[in-house]
Amino acid sequence: MRIVLASDHGGFELKEAIKKCLIEKGYDINDIGVYDTKSVDYPDYGKRAALMVANKEADKGIIVCGTGIGISIAANKVKGIRCALCTNEYMARMSRMHNNANMLALGGRVTGIGLAIDMVDVWLSTEFEGGRHENRVNKIMDIEISKEEEK
Ligand code: RB5
Repeated sequence: MRIVLASDHGGFELKEAIKKCLIEKGYDINDIGVYDTKSVDYPDYGKRAALMVANKEADKGIIVCGTGIGISIAANKVKGIRCALCTNEYMARMSRMHNNANMLALGGRVTGIGLAIDMVDVWLSTEFEGGRHENRVNKIMDIEISKEEEK
């Protein structure tokens, strides 16, 4: 599985910890930055990672900023992206089972490394349930189409 990783300065440390862990587990990781704690704008990184998932250059994306909020909002502006900001394992599991999330957002200043790694493991190993949830997820995608038609 090809995973794109990105963060701003507030998520750098957690992104690095996740990267190390995922590489050890044999995942194909593309880390598009940041590579240090110099201050940057999180929308640039959320957007770049989301475009890679939307364009199928990555199967899934994991993005981190200070809270996870800003970078997830940015990623969710990209058509085809369902980015879930999660703070616990239940949310991580449900975001896959019910929402078919293709990106996970975490807060580097909110979630400790141990919990974050467990959440990533759960998120990557949980399948979408489909069934009644398929229709609901399709309704989300229809909202994206409606937005375009308004332009
Ligand atoms: C950066 O200071 C911080 O605003 C950012 O990492 C994130 O928390 C935004 O939502």
